Amino acid sequence: SNDIPVIAIDGPTASGKGTVAAGVAQALGWHILDSGAIYRLVALASMRREVAAGDEAALVELAGHLDIRFDVDGAWLDGECVADAIRQEAVGARASVIAALPEVRAALLARQRQFRQVPGLVADGRDMGTVVFPRAQLKVFLVAAAQARAERRYNQLKAKGISANLEDLLRDLMERDARDTGRKAAPLVPASDAMTLDSSAMTAAEVIAQVLSLYRARIAAAV
Ligand code: CDP
Ligand code: CDP
Repeated sequence: SNDIPVIAIDGPTASGKGTVAAGVAQALGWHILDSGAIYRLVALASMRREVAAGDEAALVELAGHLDIRFDVDGAWLDGECVADAIRQEAVGARASVIAALPEVRAALLARQRQFRQVPGLVADGRDMGTVVFPRAQLKVFLVAAAQARAERRYNQLKAKGISANLEDLLRDLMERDARDTGRKAAPLVPASDAMTLDSSAMTAAEVIAQVLSLYRARIAAAV
Protein backbone atom coordinates (compact mmCIF):
# COMPACT_ATOMS: atom_id res chain seq x y z
CA SER A 1 0.00 0.00 0.00
CA ASN A 2 3.06 2.25 0.16
CA ASP A 3 2.90 2.62 -3.64
CA ILE A 4 -0.58 4.11 -3.50
CA PRO A 5 -0.31 7.89 -3.97
CA VAL A 6 -1.31 10.26 -1.18
CA ILE A 7 -1.91 13.99 -1.23
CA ALA A 8 -1.66 15.38 2.31
CA ILE A 9 -3.43 18.65 3.13
CA ASP A 10 -2.71 20.06 6.58
CA GLY A 11 -3.47 23.41 8.14
CA PRO A 12 -5.37 25.30 10.82
CA THR A 13 -9.13 25.30 11.32
CA ALA A 14 -11.26 26.80 8.54
CA SER A 15 -8.33 27.15 6.17
CA GLY A 16 -10.43 25.16 3.68
CA LYS A 17 -8.74 21.74 4.05
CA GLY A 18 -11.96 19.72 3.94
CA THR A 19 -13.42 21.60 1.00
CA VAL A 20 -10.17 21.45 -0.95
CA ALA A 21 -9.54 17.77 -0.13
CA ALA A 22 -13.06 16.89 -1.33
CA GLY A 23 -12.60 18.84 -4.58
CA VAL A 24 -9.20 17.34 -5.31
CA ALA A 25 -10.41 13.80 -4.51
CA GLN A 26 -13.40 14.26 -6.76
CA ALA A 27 -11.28 15.51 -9.65
CA LEU A 28 -8.87 12.57 -9.35
CA GLY A 29 -11.47 9.94 -8.41
CA TRP A 30 -9.56 9.19 -5.20
CA HIS A 31 -10.57 8.28 -1.66
CA ILE A 32 -10.71 10.81 1.12
CA LEU A 33 -9.67 10.83 4.76
CA ASP A 34 -11.09 13.56 7.00
CA SER A 35 -8.80 12.82 9.95
CA GLY A 36 -10.29 15.65 12.01
CA ALA A 37 -13.63 13.83 11.88
CA ILE A 38 -11.98 10.84 13.57
CA TYR A 39 -10.75 13.05 16.43
CA ARG A 40 -14.19 14.65 16.58
CA LEU A 41 -15.83 11.19 16.78
CA VAL A 42 -13.61 10.25 19.73
CA ALA A 43 -14.51 13.60 21.32
CA LEU A 44 -18.26 13.09 20.80
CA ALA A 45 -18.11 9.51 22.10
CA SER A 46 -16.22 10.68 25.19
CA MET A 47 -18.77 13.41 25.89
CA ARG A 48 -21.68 10.98 25.50
CA ARG A 49 -20.04 8.42 27.76
CA GLU A 50 -18.95 11.07 30.24
CA VAL A 51 -15.27 10.19 29.98
CA ALA A 52 -13.20 13.09 31.34
CA ALA A 53 -11.01 14.95 28.81
CA GLY A 54 -7.99 14.19 31.02
CA ASP A 55 -8.61 10.45 31.51
CA GLU A 56 -6.01 9.27 29.00
CA ALA A 57 -6.38 5.53 29.70
CA ALA A 58 -10.15 5.61 29.17
CA LEU A 59 -9.76 7.75 26.03
CA VAL A 60 -7.19 5.35 24.56
CA GLU A 61 -9.57 2.47 25.22
CA LEU A 62 -12.40 4.42 23.57
CA ALA A 63 -10.27 5.37 20.55
CA GLY A 64 -9.20 1.76 20.06
CA HIS A 65 -12.73 0.37 20.05
CA LEU A 66 -14.64 3.11 18.30
CA ASP A 67 -17.48 1.86 16.06
CA ILE A 68 -17.28 4.41 13.24
CA ARG A 69 -18.10 4.51 9.56
CA PHE A 70 -18.09 7.11 6.79
CA ASP A 71 -20.48 7.27 3.85
CA VAL A 72 -22.10 9.90 1.61
CA ASP A 73 -24.10 11.20 4.58
CA GLY A 74 -20.95 11.75 6.61
CA ALA A 75 -19.78 10.17 9.84
CA TRP A 76 -21.56 7.46 11.83
CA LEU A 77 -20.97 6.54 15.47
CA ASP A 78 -22.43 3.32 16.92
CA GLY A 79 -24.81 3.07 13.96
CA GLU A 80 -26.11 6.64 14.30
CA CYS A 81 -25.46 9.43 11.77
CA VAL A 82 -23.56 12.14 13.67
CA ALA A 83 -22.57 14.31 10.69
CA ASP A 84 -24.05 17.46 12.27
CA ALA A 85 -23.28 16.57 15.90
CA ILE A 86 -19.51 16.33 15.32
CA ARG A 87 -19.41 19.79 13.66
CA GLN A 88 -20.40 21.62 16.86
CA GLU A 89 -17.70 23.94 18.15
CA ALA A 90 -17.82 22.25 21.58
CA VAL A 91 -16.93 18.95 19.93
CA GLY A 92 -14.10 20.57 17.94
CA ALA A 93 -12.72 22.14 21.12
CA ARG A 94 -12.88 18.81 22.99
CA ALA A 95 -11.25 17.10 19.98
CA SER A 96 -8.32 19.48 20.12
CA VAL A 97 -7.86 18.83 23.86
CA ILE A 98 -7.81 15.03 23.52
CA ALA A 99 -5.76 15.20 20.30
CA ALA A 100 -2.89 16.53 22.44
CA LEU A 101 -2.62 13.12 24.16
CA PRO A 102 0.10 11.07 22.43
CA GLU A 103 -1.41 7.67 23.25
CA VAL A 104 -4.77 8.66 21.83
CA ARG A 105 -3.01 9.70 18.61
CA ALA A 106 -1.11 6.40 18.52
CA ALA A 107 -4.37 4.46 18.96
CA LEU A 108 -5.78 6.15 15.83
CA LEU A 109 -2.75 5.78 13.57
CA ALA A 110 -3.46 2.39 11.94
CA ARG A 111 -7.11 3.27 11.43
CA GLN A 112 -6.11 6.37 9.46
CA ARG A 113 -3.56 4.53 7.32
CA GLN A 114 -6.23 2.01 6.26
CA PHE A 115 -7.80 4.75 4.15
CA ARG A 116 -4.87 4.52 1.74
CA GLN A 117 -6.50 2.49 -1.02
CA VAL A 118 -6.26 2.37 -4.82
CA PRO A 119 -6.26 4.50 -6.86
CA GLY A 120 -5.16 7.13 -4.29
CA LEU A 121 -5.98 9.11 -1.15
CA VAL A 122 -6.42 12.76 -0.32
CA ALA A 123 -5.99 13.15 3.46
CA ASP A 124 -6.63 16.31 5.44
CA GLY A 125 -5.81 17.22 9.02
CA ARG A 126 -2.91 18.50 11.10
CA ASP A 127 -0.26 15.78 10.78
CA MET A 128 -1.03 14.01 7.50
CA GLY A 129 2.30 15.07 5.95
CA THR A 130 4.39 14.91 9.13
CA VAL A 131 3.26 11.72 10.92
CA VAL A 132 0.55 9.68 9.23
CA PHE A 133 1.78 9.77 5.61
CA PRO A 134 5.37 11.08 5.81
CA ARG A 135 6.10 9.86 2.28
CA ALA A 136 3.06 11.45 0.65
CA GLN A 137 3.64 12.38 -3.01
CA LEU A 138 2.42 15.93 -2.37
CA LYS A 139 2.12 17.82 0.91
CA VAL A 140 0.19 21.06 1.05
CA PHE A 141 0.15 23.29 4.13
CA LEU A 142 -2.95 25.40 3.69
CA VAL A 143 -3.13 28.65 5.62
CA ALA A 144 -5.30 31.78 5.67
CA ALA A 145 -5.49 34.85 7.90
CA ALA A 146 -7.44 34.26 11.13
CA GLN A 147 -10.00 36.92 10.23
CA ALA A 148 -10.65 35.29 6.83
CA ARG A 149 -11.02 31.90 8.49
CA ALA A 150 -13.45 33.23 11.12
CA GLU A 151 -15.52 34.77 8.31
CA ARG A 152 -15.56 31.46 6.43
CA ARG A 153 -16.87 29.64 9.50
CA TYR A 154 -19.42 32.40 10.07
CA ASN A 155 -20.73 32.10 6.50
CA GLN A 156 -20.76 28.30 6.72
CA LEU A 157 -22.89 28.44 9.88
CA LYS A 158 -25.17 31.14 8.46
CA ALA A 159 -25.78 29.04 5.34
CA LYS A 160 -26.96 26.26 7.65
CA GLY A 161 -29.28 28.63 9.48
CA ILE A 162 -27.15 28.56 12.64
CA SER A 163 -26.60 31.93 14.31
CA ALA A 164 -23.05 32.74 15.33
CA ASN A 165 -20.98 35.62 16.57
CA LEU A 166 -17.91 36.56 14.55
CA GLU A 167 -15.86 37.67 17.59
CA ASP A 168 -16.61 34.42 19.43
CA LEU A 169 -15.63 32.39 16.36
CA LEU A 170 -12.39 34.32 15.98
CA ARG A 171 -11.52 33.82 19.66
CA ASP A 172 -12.33 30.06 19.60
CA LEU A 173 -10.35 29.60 16.42
CA MET A 174 -7.27 31.34 17.80
CA GLU A 175 -7.48 29.30 21.01
CA ARG A 176 -7.63 26.08 19.02
CA ASP A 177 -4.74 27.21 16.75
CA ALA A 178 -2.60 27.89 19.82
CA ARG A 179 -3.39 24.48 21.33
CA ASP A 180 -2.79 22.60 18.06
CA THR A 181 0.45 24.44 17.33
CA GLY A 182 1.84 24.42 20.86
CA ARG A 183 1.39 20.75 21.75
CA LYS A 184 4.28 18.28 21.88
CA ALA A 185 2.53 15.39 20.09
CA ALA A 186 2.22 15.94 16.33
CA PRO A 187 1.91 19.73 16.52
CA LEU A 188 0.44 21.72 13.65
CA VAL A 189 3.59 22.52 11.67
CA PRO A 190 4.34 22.21 7.96
CA ALA A 191 6.40 19.18 6.96
CA SER A 192 9.87 20.24 5.77
CA ASP A 193 8.86 19.23 2.23
CA ALA A 194 5.37 20.80 2.27
CA MET A 195 4.22 23.56 -0.08
CA THR A 196 2.63 26.36 1.92
CA LEU A 197 -0.39 27.89 0.22
CA ASP A 198 -1.99 31.08 1.56
CA SER A 199 -5.65 31.01 0.56
CA SER A 200 -6.72 34.26 2.30
CA ALA A 201 -7.54 35.89 -1.04
CA MET A 202 -8.38 32.76 -3.04
CA THR A 203 -11.65 30.98 -3.71
CA ALA A 204 -11.91 27.28 -2.88
CA ALA A 205 -12.05 26.51 -6.63
CA GLU A 206 -8.77 28.36 -7.15
CA VAL A 207 -7.09 26.43 -4.35
CA ILE A 208 -8.34 23.11 -5.76
CA ALA A 209 -6.98 24.00 -9.22
CA GLN A 210 -3.65 25.00 -7.68
CA VAL A 211 -3.30 21.72 -5.74
CA LEU A 212 -4.16 19.70 -8.85
CA SER A 213 -1.58 21.55 -10.90
CA LEU A 214 1.07 21.07 -8.17
CA TYR A 215 0.30 17.35 -8.17
CA ARG A 216 0.50 17.08 -11.97
CA ALA A 217 3.83 18.91 -11.95
CA ARG A 218 5.08 16.49 -9.28
CA ILE A 219 4.04 13.46 -11.33
CA ALA A 220 5.56 14.88 -14.53
CA ALA A 221 8.84 15.56 -12.71
CA ALA A 222 8.93 12.01 -11.31
CA VAL A 223 8.84 10.19 -14.69
O1 CDP B 1 -11.57 21.78 6.82
P1 CDP B 1 -11.33 23.20 7.25
O2 CDP B 1 -11.74 23.43 8.65
O3 CDP B 1 -9.91 23.64 7.03
O4 CDP B 1 -12.20 24.17 6.35
P2 CDP B 1 -13.54 23.88 5.49
O5 CDP B 1 -14.60 23.46 6.41
O6 CDP B 1 -13.24 23.02 4.33
O7 CDP B 1 -13.81 25.31 4.82
C1 CDP B 1 -14.39 26.39 5.45
C2 CDP B 1 -15.24 27.21 4.51
O8 CDP B 1 -14.40 28.11 3.78
C3 CDP B 1 -16.04 26.46 3.45
O9 CDP B 1 -17.38 26.93 3.49
C4 CDP B 1 -15.41 26.82 2.13
O10 CDP B 1 -16.31 26.89 1.07
C5 CDP B 1 -14.80 28.18 2.40
N1 CDP B 1 -13.60 28.54 1.62
C6 CDP B 1 -12.58 27.63 1.39
O11 CDP B 1 -12.68 26.47 1.82
N2 CDP B 1 -11.46 27.99 0.69
C7 CDP B 1 -11.31 29.21 0.23
N3 CDP B 1 -10.21 29.54 -0.43
C8 CDP B 1 -12.31 30.15 0.45
C9 CDP B 1 -13.45 29.78 1.17
O1 CDP C 1 -12.48 21.39 10.71
P1 CDP C 1 -11.43 21.93 11.61
O2 CDP C 1 -10.18 22.28 10.88
O3 CDP C 1 -11.91 22.99 12.51
O4 CDP C 1 -11.01 20.80 12.63
P2 CDP C 1 -10.80 19.30 12.34
O5 CDP C 1 -9.84 19.10 11.22
O6 CDP C 1 -12.10 18.64 12.25
O7 CDP C 1 -10.04 18.82 13.66
C1 CDP C 1 -10.57 18.98 14.97
C2 CDP C 1 -9.41 18.91 15.96
O8 CDP C 1 -8.84 17.59 15.89
C3 CDP C 1 -8.26 19.86 15.65
O9 CDP C 1 -8.37 21.09 16.33
C4 CDP C 1 -7.02 19.09 16.09
O10 CDP C 1 -6.69 19.34 17.44
C5 CDP C 1 -7.43 17.64 15.99
N1 CDP C 1 -6.79 16.98 14.84
C6 CDP C 1 -5.51 16.51 15.01
O11 CDP C 1 -4.92 16.68 16.07
N2 CDP C 1 -4.88 15.85 14.01
C7 CDP C 1 -5.49 15.66 12.84
N3 CDP C 1 -4.86 14.99 11.88
C8 CDP C 1 -6.79 16.16 12.62
C9 CDP C 1 -7.41 16.83 13.65
